[in-house]
Amino acid sequence: MMTEEYTKHEYDVVVIGAGGAGLRAAIEAARSGAKTAIITKSLLGKAHTVMAEGGCAAALQNADPRDGWKVHFHDTMKGSKWLADWRMAEFHAKEAPDRVRELETWGAVFDRTPNNLINQRNFGGHTFPRLAHVGDATGLELIRTLQERGIHEGIDIFMEYTVRHLLKEGDRVTGCVAYTRVDGDFHAFSAKSVVLATGGITRCWSVCSGSWEYTGDGHALALWAGAELRDMEFVQFHPTGMVWPPSVRGILVTEGVRGEGGRLTNSEGERFMFDYVPETFAGDHAETIEESDQWVEEVVSGKLATVRRPPELLTRDVVAKAINSEVKAGRGSPHGGAFLDISHRGEEAILKKLPSMHHQFKELAGVDISKEPMEVGPTAHYVMGGVRVNAETQESNVPGLFACGEVASGLHGANRLGGNSLSDLITFGKRAGEHAAKRAENLAQPGIEDSQVQDAIEVMLAPLMRSEGENPGLIYDEMRDMMQAKVGIIRTKEEMTEAMDDLIAFNQRQEACFAGTSRKYNSGWHQALDLKNMVDVSTAATLAALTREESRGGHTRDDFPGETEDWGKIINIIYMEDGDVKVRQEDVEPMRDDLTAAIKEVKTMIAERAAEQAGGGN
Ligand code: FUM
Repeated sequence: MMTEEYTKHEYDVVVIGAGGAGLRAAIEAARSGAKTAIITKSLLGKAHTVMAEGGCAAALQNADPRDGWKVHFHDTMKGSKWLADWRMAEFHAKEAPDRVRELETWGAVFDRTPNNLINQRNFGGHTFPRLAHVGDATGLELIRTLQERGIHEGIDIFMEYTVRHLLKEGDRVTGCVAYTRVDGDFHAFSAKSVVLATGGITRCWSVCSGSWEYTGDGHALALWAGAELRDMEFVQFHPTGMVWPPSVRGILVTEGVRGEGGRLTNSEGERFMFDYVPETFAGDHAETIEESDQWVEEVVSGKLATVRRPPELLTRDVVAKAINSEVKAGRGSPHGGAFLDISHRGEEAILKKLPSMHHQFKELAGVDISKEPMEVGPTAHYVMGGVRVNAETQESNVPGLFACGEVASGLHGANRLGGNSLSDLITFGKRAGEHAAKRAENLAQPGIEDSQVQDAIEVMLAPLMRSEGENPGLIYDEMRDMMQAKVGIIRTKEEMTEAMDDLIAFNQRQEACFAGTSRKYNSGWHQALDLKNMVDVSTAATLAALTREESRGGHTRDDFPGETEDWGKIINIIYMEDGDVKVRQEDVEPMRDDLTAAIKEVKTMIAERAAEQAGGGN
């Protein structure tokens, strides 16, 4: 067997991924005294975090003093269709306000209320306006702030390095192996703790809001290293992505547009969301159009909000499916979406609150959103599923392997509320960094076992060693189209069974593909390697979806419409055995009594508000 050269590195904590979760984890680890590195396959600043445009959810109580951690906890659990890990939802609701205020002390420039507090806007499923925001570029500002803070913590950054393998010693993770994208050099990192912060998997679908990085690297690394994943059937199709022109299909149109009063209509000019209000929300949403417009005016003028909201701000799963149904019923917009109109807010307000959306539509679609409606439709945006972690420490079932942000799971259950991802990544990024550093304190530096590194390198070089084979780009495109068609927003047993067979065939094809022979600047090689992750995480998502015979949140079965009581108490756990992706079920742990009481308290408060409003109060 040939041996390849590689460079060795030693760290206490290695963080893989440089989005909001990775940066926050690295800052905390470094602040705790750990020698810390970030490895990112892309460039600093280029993370999906920037696609959380509309805001960061935290019960700061600036827009409405009735808000608080209990209400945020209730909303997150309800939004998750009661499948979220309630411990994570509790930590998140309690800690997010401090994490947001901390960002402000680190230089984040949030929009302000007239009395100079952090302004908060409304998003679907949040009882009160709760999203701290920076126009429609909140994720970008969060990344900018964390990067600047990180510079002062002495974190080493390895940019354009892709991690392909986690090193292990017995059960525990002891580092990782990476290659450089520019010249194909190999690097082995010894680490006492490894934190996965690689984001999501939505590049597995052909219409998605994520860019090329989003190929499920961390999900696959975790699975291959023996970690468990949960909730992989729950994929969030954000209701509003661009649908036209084809080159920009899927690019996100922030929920902030609807939060600022945007109205959805069909080709017949009907504000169709009124027809899709689920019974359980009727008290919150069944107002007339005039009333909901008045409500929006109240919010935008900074007055106290009521708990009512326009139907466009139902949770994302509901709005995405409604648009899908309108298109299927022949009432879609010319390019297969719905119309989203914010022009009634006027140019000045739009340029102030939604400047990026104004720019995006002007530049990419030739549409002036201050004068005409946008065309929008669902786009794969987020996966609720990911590495199963301990709520407190973010450590997986594999010692030394931590995960935070989108690659982790638990907080969002079957459906994530908009704005809860930025608060997720700062809350649990901090926890992951802190506990990864704590673990490292008492450990000796692990050795790097050469044979493991050489094996990993051999696998990485395989697509360059064949003399012929298919172009990986073709397999990549076909696989994404297949997932879009067969494991998309509406699913059936028949199609998903076909998808499982297709994925076996795609796996065989990726094992035989040929990426040319050069290691330098070879994007075909990178794509060939991504294919393996994509096959395994797509299999995980499809298998879990096939197993769950009901519809809930981000998982809709045409053949099993509606939620069932039984599946409301079960989560799917994905694991790998002998190279195969497997699934098993586990019961949801009953909620702690004090948290059950908190939920009850909030429900009573909401019911009383609804009764007051119905009686003409405000
Ligand atoms: O619509 C948005 O601005 C996205 C936010 C999120 O996914 O949290």
